[in-house]
Amino acid sequence: MQAIRVHQYGESDVLKLETIAQPEPQPNEVLIRVQAAGVNPLDWKIRSGYMKEVFPIPMPYTPGMDVAGIVEAIGADVKAFQVGQAVYGELNMGAYAEFATASQDAIALKPQTLDFVQAASVPMVAMTAYQALFDYADLKPGQTVLIHAASGGVGMFAVQFAKWKGAHVIGTTSAANTEFVQSLGADQVIDYKSTSFEQVVKNVDVVLDTLGGDTQARSYSVLKPGGILVSTPAPPNAQDAQARGVRAEMVNMKPSASLLKEITNLLDSGQVKTVIAQTFSLSEARQAQDLSQRGHVRGKIVLQISA
Ligand SMILES: NC(=O)c1ccc[n+]([C@@H]2O[C@H](COP(=O)([O-])OP(=O)(O)OC[C@H]3O[C@@H](n4cnc5c(N)ncnc54)[C@H](OP(=O)(O)O)[C@@H]3O)[C@@H](O)[C@H]2O)c1
Repeated sequence: MQAIRVHQYGESDVLKLETIAQPEPQPNEVLIRVQAAGVNPLDWKIRSGYMKEVFPIPMPYTPGMDVAGIVEAIGADVKAFQVGQAVYGELNMGAYAEFATASQDAIALKPQTLDFVQAASVPMVAMTAYQALFDYADLKPGQTVLIHAASGGVGMFAVQFAKWKGAHVIGTTSAANTEFVQSLGADQVIDYKSTSFEQVVKNVDVVLDTLGGDTQARSYSVLKPGGILVSTPAPPNAQDAQARGVRAEMVNMKPSASLLKEITNLLDSGQVKTVIAQTFSLSEARQAQDLSQRGHVRGKIVLQISA
């Protein structure tokens, strides 16, 4: 099969299109004929070696965690899926390929209202947004949440999930994406290029930090006492948070078939949607990761692997 392979950490030119053997499913895995693979910032962070202390990876490897495709074969212990079904979900790695194996515990039937490209855009960012807001931050109806990078993958799902929950939603993005974030349901949108969010936001219950660094450090001041900051890119400093009378936690998304099913219901009932920024072919994986790395994607980048 054709697959993207990485033999050493480096810039995107280490992504090589090669012909390798098809993977074999373990007893609890399904073999998927990949139709589309989502591209996430984690993909370039791993490839560049930026994550090698926390996320060491044996070389060579095939990148990609978000997958949508058709079940080609099932392992001996798989009861929940059958050959021929359309599925989507999260892999440990290996989605940038014509075939990939997935644990039956991290996939679900593909939403009926989504095509494969749309489905592949969902798992990582939607499960992260959901778990950050509801498992880590315990966001409740009527509470206020500030969502940074509301036009990005995690942000666009977070805005929609928070509105669905009945929260008051404030999002940050640039002016070019303000209408987009409003269309997702945000009550207030702040252009980070012209306005410092901490000048106009106060007393929020929850901050979803998708940016880290300076944005994270400035975010403590907008929380009400006892409020919580949850971060997806960078572990917050617990002492800083404590000194300000707030809480802070790093999100570590755990793939879950039952959560994917819940997200499927929200997608198929039209309560949330996904938005595709751009699609690339498998052989264009470099361009796709370079675009992701520039950090200004509206919605999601997806590799379309089969027509
Ligand atoms: N811990 C976990 O389990 C986990 C899971 C998933 C993701 N993550 C991490 O979460 C982070 C976010 O992922 P993502 O997929 O949502 O990223 P993304 O889609 O690449 O985010 C891009 C968006 O960020 C916006 N942006 C850039 N700079 C900004 C600023 N200063 N203020 C406000 N918005 C800004 C851009 O809007 P403009 O173009 O308008 O600037 C763009 O729409 C990544 O670091 C990823 O690795 C962690």
